[in-house]
Amino acid sequence: MGFTGFEIMSEYAQLYAESLRDPEGFWGRAAEGIDWDRKADRVLDLTQRPTPRWFVGGRLNTCFNALDRHVEAGFGERTALLYDSPVTGSKASYSYADLRDQVAKVAGALVDLGVTAGDRVIIYMPMIPEAVMAMLACARIGAIHSVVFGGFAANELATRIEDAKPKVILAASCGIEPGRLVPYKPLLDTAIELSKHKPQHCVIKQRPQLEATLQAERDRDWDEAVSAASARPCVAVDATHPLYILYTSGTTGQPKGVVRDNGGHAVAMLWSMRNIYDVAPGEVFWAASDVGWVVGHSYIVYAPLLNGSTTVLYEGKPVGTPDAGAFWRVISEYGVKVLFTAPTAFRAIKKVDSSGEFIAKYDLSCLQSLFLAGERCDPDTLHWARTRLGIPVVDHWWQTETGWAIAANPLGVKNLPIKPGSPSVAMPGYDVRVLDESGTERAAGEMGNIVIKLPLPPSCLPTLWNNDQRFEDAYLARYPGYYLTGDAGFKDTDGYLWIMSRTDDVINVAGHRLSTGQMEEVLCGHPDVAECAVIGVKDDLKGQLPLGLVVLQGNVTRPEQEVVRELVQRVRDQIGPVAAFKLAAVVQRLPKTRSGKILRGTMVKMADGESWKMPATIDDPGALEEIATALRELGYAMH
Ligand code: COA
Ligand code: AMP
Repeated sequence: MGFTGFEIMSEYAQLYAESLRDPEGFWGRAAEGIDWDRKADRVLDLTQRPTPRWFVGGRLNTCFNALDRHVEAGFGERTALLYDSPVTGSKASYSYADLRDQVAKVAGALVDLGVTAGDRVIIYMPMIPEAVMAMLACARIGAIHSVVFGGFAANELATRIEDAKPKVILAASCGIEPGRLVPYKPLLDTAIELSKHKPQHCVIKQRPQLEATLQAERDRDWDEAVSAASARPCVAVDATHPLYILYTSGTTGQPKGVVRDNGGHAVAMLWSMRNIYDVAPGEVFWAASDVGWVVGHSYIVYAPLLNGSTTVLYEGKPVGTPDAGAFWRVISEYGVKVLFTAPTAFRAIKKVDSSGEFIAKYDLSCLQSLFLAGERCDPDTLHWARTRLGIPVVDHWWQTETGWAIAANPLGVKNLPIKPGSPSVAMPGYDVRVLDESGTERAAGEMGNIVIKLPLPPSCLPTLWNNDQRFEDAYLARYPGYYLTGDAGFKDTDGYLWIMSRTDDVINVAGHRLSTGQMEEVLCGHPDVAECAVIGVKDDLKGQLPLGLVVLQGNVTRPEQEVVRELVQRVRDQIGPVAAFKLAAVVQRLPKTRSGKILRGTMVKMADGESWKMPATIDDPGALEEIATALRELGYAMH
């Protein structure tokens, strides 16, 4: 028997039940924390398609709520943003008043370039304050931003330019990875060349580490454009107006443009800061992620600022910048109350400093909790962090699509017992169910497809950018009335969720979401490749790594290793270094069922050293033996 005892679960359970029984009442009350230019006519409009919409008729400005209102309430001197960059050796601090003034000028520069509400602006920037300003400046004038992560290749940027059709692109001259500069401008120029859609202008923040060459007509210098601009006020937009588009991996080479609206997002962000993370205005919150990912959007930029807290923008790594004490230095230096990062960052620290010597060097008494997400947190990592830090360590589960946690331990409501390996319980508004293939609910403890009964709570995607049909096909069609998360797992008898794997081609590499289907498309594009399969294999540091198994065309006579090297480079060039595609082998044939389906699941089990059975439907059992040999040569399938 578990601990669903009334005393322990009651506060959470009541809140959760209420959010499902009376969503309008629950989120209507939460919305009182936001300043509205016009209150919503309907908190939840169930008649809207493809999904119900939140705060219909309401008008607000997200940037006003994140910055101006705090200044107007007398908190202009409070620190909004702390920039800490070990890779450049620089630091900066911005008060709410500073940040508002600078954002208003960046908004002015956008307006000078003709950007108006509803126009798209792509932001291709590293972890510098200008990236945060760029996002907020778009929000200020109702433009829709789409941030593209710096670790993607030009081709990926081109796909996003073509889909979002930005009027303007805001970029920096370079990113800085330990030991190497990443020249952004050539990537940007190539991407624009590749894309059928051309932006009217690019505004480039020149970094002293590597200045870029600007094109006379198209490009503007960031500093010049901003200093010539006048400050612009906030423009109120509909609550349902998109705040941003964030592209994420689907099952094909075409990423999904997740749309986030203004109203529901602001309400959910604020609710989560107080109730999940237990952070108050003025307290310091640090999400050690990147603005290119959803964690960065929600918890580096919007949620902490909407809450009037102080956020940390860290341009560095958990290890190597300069050592495994980097996180502890930042925490002690700025008085961070809550740290949010991916388990892989902790695995990286633990690998270098398993005894926690660096932890002991810093005063971490300010740190009250650690939140982990982006991938399942393995119990070993959770135990290590909890023992070394002596604070609650919360694994929580969410997706780019939702923008905030589907399941967590809501420390601001009640610190529930932790079960290592589980991200705890469903958050308000998420009616999470586990279904079998026929749509029947599974009993406690039984694995199935994890779905969320509609309506989804505020902040979750209302659709995909310009593609309602793909949204319906990808998320709603499988089980009518439910949103398909793409994750498989189970609920235990205490109502705790266990998220065990993906049901599609998505893998998680160092907390980064990638598509093996997309990598297969890139490999198959090589003229020497006849067919291929990319699988996600277990990795001690990054959680998973992609591994390619390739069958070459019959006429290829050159050394296989030469082709493998080209394939590795091809994925790096076409998807980006972040794909971390380095493992590949040539095989004579791929194992398939008699109907021609590649047995990816069996190969994954084999590679991970799990027990597997020869599928009864296999066409050619010898093919699996050959795979086992290839995997062993790559250092997998050892058990
Ligand atoms: N711009 C350009 N290149 C980037 C990049 C960026 N913003 N981010 C990563 N890359 C590159 C890296 O330099 C690396 O290139 P390499 O193959 O030349 O070495 C490659 O992409 C893979 O990067 P990564 O997966 O980050 O591996 P790593 O070995 O550099 O670092 C960790 C490993 C664990 C330290 C790192 O992944 C990490 O800090 N992870 C935290 C995860 C995180 O923040 N997730 C976000 C969700 S919460
Ligand atoms: P992303 O959209 O990049 O945030 O990736 C979302 C996916 O990452 C989810 O669908 C899960 O597969 C996985 N994920 C994120 N957080 C967790 C977690 N805490 N436990 C298990 N899987 C997670």
